[in-house]
Amino acid sequence: MIYLDNAATTLHKPSAVIEAVVNAMQSAGNAARGAHGASLGAAGMVYDTRQKLAALFGCPRADHVAFTANATGALNIAIYGLLGPNDHAITTDLEHNSVLRPLYDLEERGMGLDFVSADRNGCVNYNEFEALMKPNTKAIVCTHASNLTGNALDVARIVEIAHRYGAYLIVDAAQSAGSFSINMTEMGIDVLCFTGHKGLMGPQGTGGLCVRPGVELRPFMRGGSGVQSHNKHQPVNYPTRLEAGTLNSHGIAGLGAAVDYLTSKGVENLYRIEYDLMMQFYEGVSAIDGVTVYGDFSAKPRAAIVSLNIRDYDSSMVADALYTDYGIATRAGAHCAPRMHAALGTTEQGAVRFSFSPFNTEKEIRSAIDAIRQISIE
Ligand code: ALA
Repeated sequence: MIYLDNAATTLHKPSAVIEAVVNAMQSAGNAARGAHGASLGAAGMVYDTRQKLAALFGCPRADHVAFTANATGALNIAIYGLLGPNDHAITTDLEHNSVLRPLYDLEERGMGLDFVSADRNGCVNYNEFEALMKPNTKAIVCTHASNLTGNALDVARIVEIAHRYGAYLIVDAAQSAGSFSINMTEMGIDVLCFTGHKGLMGPQGTGGLCVRPGVELRPFMRGGSGVQSHNKHQPVNYPTRLEAGTLNSHGIAGLGAAVDYLTSKGVENLYRIEYDLMMQFYEGVSAIDGVTVYGDFSAKPRAAIVSLNIRDYDSSMVADALYTDYGIATRAGAHCAPRMHAALGTTEQGAVRFSFSPFNTEKEIRSAIDAIRQISIE
Protein backbone atom coordinates (compact mmCIF):
# COMPACT_ATOMS: atom_id res chain seq x y z
CA MET A 1 0.00 0.00 0.00
CA ILE A 2 1.10 3.54 -0.74
CA TYR A 3 -0.18 5.44 2.26
CA LEU A 4 -1.10 9.03 1.45
CA ASP A 5 -3.63 9.67 4.22
CA ASN A 6 -1.29 11.18 6.78
CA ALA A 7 -3.63 14.08 7.54
CA ALA A 8 -6.05 11.52 8.98
CA THR A 9 -3.31 9.75 10.92
CA THR A 10 0.31 8.94 10.24
CA LEU A 11 0.60 5.21 9.68
CA HIS A 12 4.36 4.86 9.79
CA LYS A 13 5.55 5.59 13.31
CA PRO A 14 9.18 5.70 14.40
CA SER A 15 10.11 2.32 15.89
CA ALA A 16 11.04 4.05 19.17
CA VAL A 17 7.37 5.06 19.55
CA ILE A 18 6.19 1.47 19.27
CA GLU A 19 8.89 0.28 21.67
CA ALA A 20 7.95 2.96 24.21
CA VAL A 21 4.27 1.93 24.14
CA VAL A 22 5.15 -1.75 24.58
CA ASN A 23 7.55 -0.92 27.40
CA ALA A 24 4.93 1.23 29.17
CA MET A 25 2.32 -1.51 28.82
CA GLN A 26 4.71 -3.83 30.62
CA SER A 27 5.69 -1.41 33.37
CA ALA A 28 3.39 1.60 33.87
CA GLY A 29 1.19 1.79 36.94
CA ASN A 30 -1.46 4.48 37.31
CA ALA A 31 0.26 7.87 37.25
CA ALA A 32 -0.37 9.94 40.41
CA ARG A 33 -2.47 7.19 41.94
CA GLY A 34 0.04 5.51 44.26
CA ALA A 35 3.45 5.74 45.93
CA HIS A 36 4.88 2.47 44.62
CA GLY A 37 7.46 2.18 41.89
CA ALA A 38 5.04 1.38 39.04
CA SER A 39 2.88 4.44 39.79
CA LEU A 40 5.80 6.76 40.43
CA GLY A 41 7.50 5.55 37.25
CA ALA A 42 4.37 6.32 35.22
CA ALA A 43 4.02 9.73 36.87
CA GLY A 44 7.64 10.55 36.08
CA MET A 45 7.25 9.49 32.46
CA VAL A 46 4.05 11.54 32.10
CA TYR A 47 5.75 14.60 33.54
CA ASP A 48 8.79 14.12 31.29
CA THR A 49 6.43 14.07 28.30
CA ARG A 50 4.79 17.30 29.47
CA GLN A 51 8.24 18.85 29.61
CA LYS A 52 9.14 17.62 26.13
CA LEU A 53 5.90 18.99 24.67
CA ALA A 54 6.32 22.31 26.50
CA ALA A 55 9.81 22.61 25.00
CA LEU A 56 8.60 21.61 21.52
CA PHE A 57 5.74 24.14 21.49
CA GLY A 58 7.36 26.96 23.49
CA CYS A 59 4.93 26.62 26.42
CA PRO A 60 6.55 28.35 29.41
CA ARG A 61 5.34 25.82 31.98
CA ALA A 62 5.20 22.03 31.71
CA ASP A 63 2.31 21.94 34.19
CA HIS A 64 0.28 23.96 31.69
CA VAL A 65 0.37 21.06 29.23
CA ALA A 66 -2.76 18.93 29.77
CA PHE A 67 -3.34 15.60 28.07
CA THR A 68 -6.44 14.63 26.12
CA ALA A 69 -7.35 11.80 23.75
CA ASN A 70 -7.07 13.93 20.60
CA ALA A 71 -7.33 17.48 19.25
CA THR A 72 -11.13 17.36 19.51
CA GLY A 73 -10.88 16.78 23.27
CA ALA A 74 -8.41 19.64 23.59
CA LEU A 75 -10.59 22.00 21.55
CA ASN A 76 -13.70 21.14 23.57
CA ILE A 77 -11.82 21.87 26.79
CA ALA A 78 -10.50 25.17 25.44
CA ILE A 79 -13.74 26.37 23.83
CA TYR A 80 -16.12 25.42 26.66
CA GLY A 81 -13.56 26.44 29.25
CA LEU A 82 -13.30 29.96 27.91
CA LEU A 83 -16.56 30.84 26.18
CA GLY A 84 -20.12 31.20 27.46
CA PRO A 85 -23.57 32.44 26.40
CA ASN A 86 -22.76 36.12 26.95
CA ASP A 87 -19.61 36.07 24.85
CA HIS A 88 -18.90 36.53 21.17
CA ALA A 89 -16.44 34.40 19.19
CA ILE A 90 -14.92 34.63 15.73
CA THR A 91 -13.84 31.66 13.66
CA THR A 92 -13.23 30.88 9.99
CA ASP A 93 -14.56 28.88 7.07
CA LEU A 94 -11.44 26.70 7.22
CA GLU A 95 -12.48 24.94 10.39
CA HIS A 96 -12.97 21.27 11.15
CA ASN A 97 -16.11 20.10 12.96
CA SER A 98 -14.04 19.79 16.14
CA VAL A 99 -14.10 23.60 16.22
CA LEU A 100 -17.43 24.17 14.46
CA ARG A 101 -19.66 21.88 16.49
CA PRO A 102 -18.70 23.18 19.95
CA LEU A 103 -19.09 26.74 18.65
CA TYR A 104 -22.48 26.00 17.05
CA ASP A 105 -23.59 24.44 20.33
CA LEU A 106 -22.57 27.57 22.25
CA GLU A 107 -24.28 29.71 19.64
CA GLU A 108 -27.52 27.81 20.28
CA ARG A 109 -27.10 28.68 23.97
CA GLY A 110 -26.84 32.39 23.18
CA MET A 111 -23.21 33.05 22.30
CA GLY A 112 -22.53 35.35 19.34
CA LEU A 113 -20.59 33.73 16.51
CA ASP A 114 -19.16 35.17 13.30
CA PHE A 115 -17.16 33.65 10.47
CA VAL A 116 -14.25 35.00 8.49
CA SER A 117 -14.98 33.79 4.98
CA ALA A 118 -12.67 31.90 2.67
CA ASP A 119 -12.46 32.43 -1.08
CA ARG A 120 -12.47 29.76 -3.81
CA ASN A 121 -8.78 29.23 -3.15
CA GLY A 122 -9.35 28.59 0.55
CA CYS A 123 -7.72 31.90 1.57
CA VAL A 124 -9.10 34.38 4.11
CA ASN A 125 -9.19 38.16 4.01
CA TYR A 126 -7.44 39.14 7.25
CA ASN A 127 -9.26 42.48 7.42
CA GLU A 128 -12.45 40.58 8.18
CA PHE A 129 -11.16 39.56 11.62
CA GLU A 130 -10.95 43.17 12.74
CA ALA A 131 -14.26 44.09 11.12
CA LEU A 132 -16.02 41.33 13.07
CA MET A 133 -14.61 42.31 16.48
CA LYS A 134 -17.23 43.31 19.07
CA PRO A 135 -16.87 44.66 22.62
CA ASN A 136 -17.71 41.19 24.01
CA THR A 137 -15.50 39.20 21.64
CA LYS A 138 -13.80 36.76 23.99
CA ALA A 139 -11.88 34.61 21.55
CA ILE A 140 -10.85 33.91 18.00
CA VAL A 141 -10.75 30.17 17.40
CA CYS A 142 -8.94 29.12 14.25
CA THR A 143 -7.06 26.32 12.65
CA HIS A 144 -3.35 26.64 12.02
CA ALA A 145 -3.74 24.79 8.71
CA SER A 146 -6.80 23.55 6.85
CA ASN A 147 -7.18 19.77 6.85
CA LEU A 148 -8.66 20.05 3.36
CA THR A 149 -6.49 22.47 1.39
CA GLY A 150 -3.41 22.53 3.62
CA ASN A 151 -3.51 26.35 3.55
CA ALA A 152 -2.04 27.83 6.73
CA LEU A 153 -3.40 30.84 8.56
CA ASP A 154 -1.05 33.63 9.57
CA VAL A 155 -1.37 33.19 13.32
CA ALA A 156 0.84 36.16 14.16
CA ARG A 157 -1.44 38.45 12.19
CA ILE A 158 -4.58 37.09 13.83
CA VAL A 159 -3.16 37.20 17.34
CA GLU A 160 -2.19 40.83 16.90
CA ILE A 161 -5.82 41.70 16.17
CA ALA A 162 -7.18 39.46 18.95
CA HIS A 163 -4.95 40.88 21.65
CA ARG A 164 -5.46 44.47 20.53
CA TYR A 165 -9.16 43.93 21.31
CA GLY A 166 -8.53 42.00 24.54
CA ALA A 167 -9.57 38.64 23.06
CA TYR A 168 -7.84 35.28 23.32
CA LEU A 169 -6.57 33.14 20.47
CA ILE A 170 -7.26 29.40 20.51
CA VAL A 171 -5.38 27.54 17.78
CA ASP A 172 -6.29 24.13 16.36
CA ALA A 173 -2.88 22.70 15.51
CA ALA A 174 -4.21 19.27 14.47
CA GLN A 175 -2.55 19.53 11.05
CA SER A 176 0.51 21.57 12.03
CA ALA A 177 1.82 20.09 15.31
CA GLY A 178 4.99 18.18 14.54
CA SER A 179 5.19 19.61 11.01
CA PHE A 180 5.50 23.38 11.53
CA SER A 181 7.85 25.02 13.99
CA ILE A 182 5.55 26.34 16.71
CA ASN A 183 6.56 28.55 19.60
CA MET A 184 3.29 29.56 21.26
CA THR A 185 4.97 32.19 23.44
CA GLU A 186 6.71 33.93 20.54
CA MET A 187 3.59 33.60 18.39
CA GLY A 188 1.30 34.90 21.16
CA ILE A 189 -1.03 31.89 21.14
CA ASP A 190 -3.17 31.65 24.27
CA VAL A 191 -4.26 28.02 23.94
CA LEU A 192 -2.65 25.57 21.53
CA CYS A 193 -4.62 22.38 20.86
CA PHE A 194 -2.84 19.42 19.28
CA THR A 195 -3.22 15.76 18.51
CA GLY A 196 -0.49 13.20 18.98
CA HIS A 197 -1.17 10.82 16.11
CA LYS A 198 -0.67 13.00 13.02
CA GLY A 199 2.47 15.08 12.44
CA LEU A 200 3.86 14.26 15.86
CA MET A 201 3.82 10.58 14.77
CA GLY A 202 2.70 9.34 18.18
CA PRO A 203 -0.07 6.88 19.05
CA GLN A 204 -3.76 7.45 18.40
CA GLY A 205 -5.60 8.37 21.60
CA THR A 206 -3.06 11.04 22.53
CA GLY A 207 -3.21 14.81 22.30
CA GLY A 208 -3.44 17.79 24.54
CA LEU A 209 -3.49 21.51 25.02
CA CYS A 210 -0.87 24.01 26.07
CA VAL A 211 -2.33 26.88 28.08
CA ARG A 212 -0.52 30.18 28.36
CA PRO A 213 0.05 30.97 32.07
CA GLY A 214 -2.61 33.47 33.11
CA VAL A 215 -5.34 32.02 30.90
CA GLU A 216 -8.06 30.59 33.15
CA LEU A 217 -10.06 27.73 31.64
CA ARG A 218 -13.04 26.33 33.50
CA PRO A 219 -12.79 22.54 33.99
CA PHE A 220 -14.56 20.61 31.26
CA MET A 221 -14.68 17.27 33.06
CA ARG A 222 -14.68 16.53 36.74
CA GLY A 223 -13.56 13.36 38.44
CA GLY A 224 -10.67 11.49 39.97
CA SER A 225 -7.40 13.37 40.00
CA GLY A 226 -5.32 11.40 42.50
CA VAL A 227 -4.94 14.53 44.63
CA GLN A 228 -7.25 16.49 46.98
CA SER A 229 -9.68 13.57 47.15
CA HIS A 230 -11.74 15.25 49.89
CA ASN A 231 -12.26 18.40 47.82
CA LYS A 232 -15.76 18.51 46.30
CA HIS A 233 -14.41 20.40 43.31
CA GLN A 234 -11.92 19.68 40.58
CA PRO A 235 -8.51 20.93 41.82
CA VAL A 236 -7.72 24.41 40.49
CA ASN A 237 -4.08 23.76 39.64
CA TYR A 238 -3.11 22.97 36.09
CA PRO A 239 -2.88 20.37 34.63
CA THR A 240 -5.20 18.56 37.09
CA ARG A 241 -7.87 21.20 36.51
CA LEU A 242 -8.22 19.90 32.95
CA GLU A 243 -7.53 16.19 33.46
CA ALA A 244 -10.01 13.82 35.15
CA GLY A 245 -9.64 10.06 35.28
CA THR A 246 -6.75 7.75 34.49
CA LEU A 247 -4.39 9.11 31.89
CA ASN A 248 -3.41 7.17 28.78
CA SER A 249 0.07 6.50 30.14
CA HIS A 250 0.84 3.94 27.45
CA GLY A 251 0.02 6.39 24.69
CA ILE A 252 1.76 9.24 26.47
CA ALA A 253 4.93 7.13 26.67
CA GLY A 254 4.75 6.70 22.90
CA LEU A 255 4.10 10.40 22.44
CA GLY A 256 7.16 11.24 24.51
CA ALA A 257 9.27 8.98 22.29
CA ALA A 258 7.73 10.62 19.23
CA VAL A 259 8.75 14.07 20.46
CA ASP A 260 12.27 12.75 21.09
CA TYR A 261 12.35 11.46 17.51
CA LEU A 262 11.14 14.78 16.07
CA THR A 263 13.56 16.77 18.17
CA SER A 264 16.52 14.59 17.22
CA LYS A 265 15.72 14.76 13.49
CA GLY A 266 14.63 18.42 13.60
CA VAL A 267 11.06 19.50 12.89
CA GLU A 268 12.25 21.75 10.02
CA ASN A 269 14.21 18.90 8.41
CA LEU A 270 11.27 16.51 8.52
CA TYR A 271 8.90 19.21 7.26
CA ARG A 272 11.20 19.92 4.32
CA ILE A 273 10.90 16.28 3.23
CA GLU A 274 7.09 16.21 3.30
CA TYR A 275 6.85 19.70 1.77
CA ASP A 276 9.08 18.70 -1.17
CA LEU A 277 7.09 15.51 -1.74
CA MET A 278 3.85 17.51 -1.67
CA MET A 279 5.17 20.05 -4.19
CA GLN A 280 6.40 17.27 -6.47
CA PHE A 281 2.92 15.74 -6.38
CA TYR A 282 1.21 19.12 -6.80
CA GLU A 283 3.29 20.00 -9.85
CA GLY A 284 2.70 16.57 -11.38
CA VAL A 285 -1.07 16.48 -10.99
CA SER A 286 -1.58 20.16 -11.85
CA ALA A 287 -0.28 19.42 -15.35
CA ILE A 288 -2.87 16.68 -15.98
CA ASP A 289 -5.83 17.66 -18.14
CA GLY A 290 -9.11 17.62 -16.21
CA VAL A 291 -7.55 17.84 -12.74
CA THR A 292 -8.58 20.66 -10.39
CA VAL A 293 -6.35 21.23 -7.37
CA TYR A 294 -7.65 23.26 -4.42
CA GLY A 295 -5.70 25.65 -2.23
CA ASP A 296 -2.87 28.15 -2.32
CA PHE A 297 0.52 26.61 -3.06
CA SER A 298 2.41 29.90 -3.20
CA ALA A 299 2.63 30.32 0.57
CA LYS A 300 4.94 28.51 3.00
CA PRO A 301 4.45 26.90 5.42
CA ARG A 302 1.44 24.92 4.36
CA ALA A 303 0.35 21.49 5.52
CA ALA A 304 1.57 18.69 3.25
CA ILE A 305 -1.84 18.18 1.68
CA VAL A 306 -3.07 18.22 -1.92
CA SER A 307 -6.83 17.92 -2.47
CA LEU A 308 -8.10 17.52 -5.99
CA ASN A 309 -10.89 16.39 -8.25
CA ILE A 310 -10.87 14.85 -11.69
CA ARG A 311 -13.47 16.49 -13.90
CA ASP A 312 -16.88 15.92 -12.28
CA TYR A 313 -16.01 12.41 -11.06
CA ASP A 314 -17.35 11.59 -7.63
CA SER A 315 -14.46 11.90 -5.17
CA SER A 316 -15.31 8.65 -3.37
CA MET A 317 -15.26 6.73 -6.66
CA VAL A 318 -11.82 8.15 -7.44
CA ALA A 319 -10.50 7.27 -3.97
CA ASP A 320 -11.93 3.76 -4.31
CA ALA A 321 -10.27 3.34 -7.71
CA LEU A 322 -6.99 4.61 -6.30
CA TYR A 323 -7.08 2.04 -3.54
CA THR A 324 -8.54 -0.91 -5.43
CA ASP A 325 -6.58 -0.57 -8.66
CA TYR A 326 -3.37 1.12 -7.49
CA GLY A 327 -3.11 0.36 -3.75
CA ILE A 328 -3.05 4.08 -2.89
CA ALA A 329 -4.74 5.16 0.36
CA THR A 330 -6.30 8.64 0.34
CA ARG A 331 -9.36 10.23 1.90
CA ALA A 332 -12.37 11.42 -0.11
CA GLY A 333 -15.66 13.06 0.83
CA ALA A 334 -16.19 15.96 3.20
CA HIS A 335 -13.28 15.59 5.66
CA CYS A 336 -15.41 16.98 8.54
CA ALA A 337 -14.86 20.44 6.99
CA PRO A 338 -18.28 21.46 5.62
CA ARG A 339 -17.68 25.21 5.35
CA MET A 340 -14.35 24.72 3.59
CA HIS A 341 -16.02 22.51 1.00
CA ALA A 342 -18.80 25.08 0.61
CA ALA A 343 -16.22 27.82 -0.01
CA LEU A 344 -14.41 25.68 -2.60
CA GLY A 345 -17.69 24.72 -4.28
CA THR A 346 -17.13 21.00 -3.57
CA THR A 347 -20.02 20.26 -1.21
CA GLU A 348 -21.57 17.75 -3.61
CA GLN A 349 -18.47 16.28 -5.22
CA GLY A 350 -16.22 16.25 -2.17
CA ALA A 351 -12.51 16.06 -2.97
CA VAL A 352 -9.77 13.44 -2.98
CA ARG A 353 -7.19 14.35 -0.38
CA PHE A 354 -3.57 13.23 -0.62
CA SER A 355 -1.50 13.93 2.48
CA PHE A 356 2.16 13.24 2.97
CA SER A 357 4.61 12.34 5.70
CA PRO A 358 8.41 12.31 5.86
CA PHE A 359 8.23 8.51 5.48
CA ASN A 360 6.81 8.77 1.95
CA THR A 361 9.16 8.46 -1.01
CA GLU A 362 9.57 10.11 -4.42
CA LYS A 363 8.79 6.76 -6.05
CA GLU A 364 5.42 6.71 -4.27
CA ILE A 365 4.72 10.24 -5.46
CA ARG A 366 5.50 9.26 -9.09
CA SER A 367 3.16 6.25 -8.77
CA ALA A 368 0.37 8.46 -7.38
CA ILE A 369 0.77 10.99 -10.22
CA ASP A 370 0.68 8.14 -12.78
CA ALA A 371 -2.48 6.76 -11.16
CA ILE A 372 -4.25 10.12 -11.38
CA ARG A 373 -3.16 10.46 -15.03
CA GLN A 374 -4.50 6.99 -15.78
CA ILE A 375 -7.86 7.57 -14.04
CA SER A 376 -8.22 10.93 -15.82
CA ILE A 377 -8.11 9.24 -19.26
CA GLU A 378 -10.33 6.27 -18.42
N1 ALA B 1 -9.39 15.16 11.14
C1 ALA B 1 -8.80 14.08 10.44
C2 ALA B 1 -8.82 14.30 8.96
O1 ALA B 1 -8.81 15.40 8.50
C3 ALA B 1 -9.30 12.77 10.85
O2 ALA B 1 -8.84 13.37 8.21
